Amino acid sequence: MCGIFGYVGARSASPILLEGLRTLEYRGYDSAGIYVPGQAPVRAVGPIDNLAAKLTAPLPGSAGIAHTRWATHGAPTELNAHPHLDMSGTVAIVHNGIIENYRELKEGLIMQGITCTSDTDTEVLAKLIGSVYRGDLLAAVREALSFVRGTYGLVAMSERRPGEIVTARMGSPIVIGIAADGNLISSDPSALLAHTKDVIYLEDGECAVVTKDSYEVMTISGKKLNKSPETVEWDVESVQKQGYEHFMLKEIFEAPSVIENTIRGRLMPEKGRAKLGGVERVLDTLVDLDRLTIVGCGSAYYAGQVGRYMFEEYAGLPTEVELGSEYRYKRNLPDKNSAVIAVTQSGETADTLASVREAKSLGLLTLGVVNVVGSTIARETDAGVYNHAGPEVAVASTKAFISQLTVFVLLTLLIGREKGLSAEEGKRIAAELAALPGVLEQYLKNTDNIATVAKKYAAYRDAMFIGRKFHTPIAYEGSLKLKEVTYTHAEAYAGGELKHGSIAMLDEQFPVIALVPKDDVYEKMVSNIEEVRARKAPVLAIATEGDMHIKAVADDVLFIPKMHPILQPIVTTIPLQLLAYYIGVEKGLNVDRPRNLAKSVTVE
Ligand code: G6P
Repeated sequence: MCGIFGYVGARSASPILLEGLRTLEYRGYDSAGIYVPGQAPVRAVGPIDNLAAKLTAPLPGSAGIAHTRWATHGAPTELNAHPHLDMSGTVAIVHNGIIENYRELKEGLIMQGITCTSDTDTEVLAKLIGSVYRGDLLAAVREALSFVRGTYGLVAMSERRPGEIVTARMGSPIVIGIAADGNLISSDPSALLAHTKDVIYLEDGECAVVTKDSYEVMTISGKKLNKSPETVEWDVESVQKQGYEHFMLKEIFEAPSVIENTIRGRLMPEKGRAKLGGVERVLDTLVDLDRLTIVGCGSAYYAGQVGRYMFEEYAGLPTEVELGSEYRYKRNLPDKNSAVIAVTQSGETADTLASVREAKSLGLLTLGVVNVVGSTIARETDAGVYNHAGPEVAVASTKAFISQLTVFVLLTLLIGREKGLSAEEGKRIAAELAALPGVLEQYLKNTDNIATVAKKYAAYRDAMFIGRKFHTPIAYEGSLKLKEVTYTHAEAYAGGELKHGSIAMLDEQFPVIALVPKDDVYEKMVSNIEEVRARKAPVLAIATEGDMHIKAVADDVLFIPKMHPILQPIVTTIPLQLLAYYIGVEKGLNVDRPRNLAKSVTVE
């Protein structure tokens, strides 16, 4: 949430900063701003394009900092946009996170005659740093932070030393990029790929001074640290649209290669097993668990729900799924023999991270299913599996969700085969999983029918998604996608639950999207569709190729290939993602960056 970018080097800074912001725009797009020492900050409300329009010529200077904001404290106005300055106007900062005691700090500053003009907690921090600045910016930042309670990814510069950037981290990610012609700072390694793959991740409680050709990392309390760069495995092409109109469409179409990358080297079809290097060490513990808890937020939570059906049905592992924002605050009564798996694309979601910490404090084994290598949750969990889905740029998660489901299939094979899943069943699952990329490749060759159906359903204000078993969480994910990308009022229910209240809403203006593949609850779902039709609600069915009966009960049908039940939800998800995408496009909306959202939710 909020994107930070900094550059100090040999080239003109402002074009590099603007480009960095564009790569980070998915983190927030309420306002943006840029600071190059010696110039006044330039800020604009709305997307980066508005800021770019104000910068008619590059600002003179080869170092600077920039920010794209998702508003927390204070409305998204130009006054509240970052960078913020200290009283003297010579120290500027950009910040991601929340300063919890900013009111207290503000009162203290007012007593010293220092006042703020914006409503933000960040300006208070800028004024505080300025108030203790005595010629050494790093010392001032460290001193100011000793008074602060809250979270921050912080980057500061002083006009008096324009070749030096100071950064610090507590709870919000900061990555330093080491490039040939200068050094960079970013909230996310993907924004550094245009310059370098060599990065240094700051940990909580660390800070650094970065110049054109040096970097020095230490703890905020002053202990020097010796950190060497790590290599990011992603390519710069992965954060480009590559001919697609939107990132969301590109990322949906990446499903076949995402599955390939997720299973590469991990699947043993001939044995019906999986091997996952990152959990090998704890496999015995996993096999002996009495209970497993999966924690996540948003789409990752729904992926966890599907994971639960997989683990219980095929691995005989009792599983529960919790929202990060609930698990971290509620009283948890874990079995002695339990563990927690955190599912997260970014590896930075604040509530998921806090849940990992809560689980650790309860003495539980923690695992991560994480996409971003080196992210906080990847580093703080005891073991885990990387998704290898590549960077996901569109705010609404699509390919990461597909990869999360794939990882759950791998984990089911891994644990299940130790707990009674037969070799025969294991081989069937593994063989179909190995074939899945090809099946999806073929399926994605013609999605025109989805675009056509989307045109019709774009006219409705409401939508109800229903499914059963594996497809209950997929119904929720389909409804979330539609809400996020098209602002349509959408609900989701387990098919059998519909008649316990929500069916009352249905009429000819309230369509139902029914997930009805040929599985062991098919007949039950068909009954649910009949109930819905009796209320005159239009029905769009997602059904198995060759299912002729469904045409008689549904108004529209999108056919999908039949797979093993554990893999079917992966396939069913794709038309739902595309439906949301095409409806969003039909409505003329910004599908990659829906209003009010941010991709990486690092505030609580
Ligand atoms: C945000 C995104 C969602 C995502 C959720 C969890 O709300 O908009 O698409 O599912 O965060 O993110 P994570 O990075 O933890 O998977």
